[in-house]
Amino acid sequence: IKSIGLFTSGGDAPGMNAAIRAVVRTGLYYDLKVFGITRGYDGLVKGDLYEMDAKSVANIIQRGGTILKTARSQEFLTVEGRQQAYDKLQEAGIDALVAIGGDGTFTGAKKFIDEHDVPIIGIPGTIDNDLQGTDFTIGYDTAINTVVDAVDKIRDTAESHDRVFIVEVMGRDSGLIALRSGIGTGAEAILIPEANLDFSDTLDRMDKTRKNKSSRIIIVAEGDEAGGAFEVADRVKNRFPHYDVRVSVLGHIQRGGKPSCMDRVLASRLGVAAVEGLLAGKSGEMAGLIGPDVCFTPFDRAIKHIREVNPNLLKIANILSL
Ligand code: F6P
Repeated sequence: IKSIGLFTSGGDAPGMNAAIRAVVRTGLYYDLKVFGITRGYDGLVKGDLYEMDAKSVANIIQRGGTILKTARSQEFLTVEGRQQAYDKLQEAGIDALVAIGGDGTFTGAKKFIDEHDVPIIGIPGTIDNDLQGTDFTIGYDTAINTVVDAVDKIRDTAESHDRVFIVEVMGRDSGLIALRSGIGTGAEAILIPEANLDFSDTLDRMDKTRKNKSSRIIIVAEGDEAGGAFEVADRVKNRFPHYDVRVSVLGHIQRGGKPSCMDRVLASRLGVAAVEGLLAGKSGEMAGLIGPDVCFTPFDRAIKHIREVNPNLLKIANILSL
């Protein structure tokens, strides 16, 4: 391998820039040419790329978003689009790729490898933390800290007005943002798709526990079966008409902001590992961190969404929300 390309794809996540910096600098360290491909698979299909040097990634470790931009490409979903992407890589003399993103990114990468035999290593970049083969994805730690910060503020006003707040957090199919931020903010209830809770049980519990509680925070993951925050608010109001209920949908603030130190270090480690993995002949795998060790997981296992969360965390949330 003499030359690598890298891109970010899918929803952006804080720490992606730190990963870009690590991949570029590791590539240069090993005397490779490094090309940045813009807007994910879209840029690959269009051949929208440029050569990067150590300076092109200076002063970005602390910045949210992604300097390479990101997109969800329709063209790459077609055989013709992927053929065009391959031709563009050949034209530019790029031998291997590093793909930073989530399950959609790795699904595309796997298809590309099957059809064109281009070595690709993935780096997990998504706030959702919904990949196997890594304890945490890049962006998750920053996102949950953003949620904790916002909910702490909401708690202040909720307590002053004796209100119930339903706070909706991101996580299309996953409740991991909700679960950890719920524990971290002392939420009275956490609604996540993985827990399969009957919402009327949650309402019963609210009725039984400390009737004189002044404020209550219910965190709901956007993918939960109980519905979005407004639906949950209606059900709370129907059951407890005397409660003063408000809704707050945190939305895309969870995807922005400067990455936490945890995310910067994780991104730096996985960026180095991805390039070293390619040089060691690996392909079709995602670099991740399990415990203290960097490890590699095949794409099809990494993207398996397991609807199971750590039961100890669920238990803790339940015990402490009394
Ligand atoms: O995949 C990350 C994520 O933040 C999900 O939690 C959310 O549902 C989705 O992206 C929203 O993405 P967008 O607004 O970019 O379509």
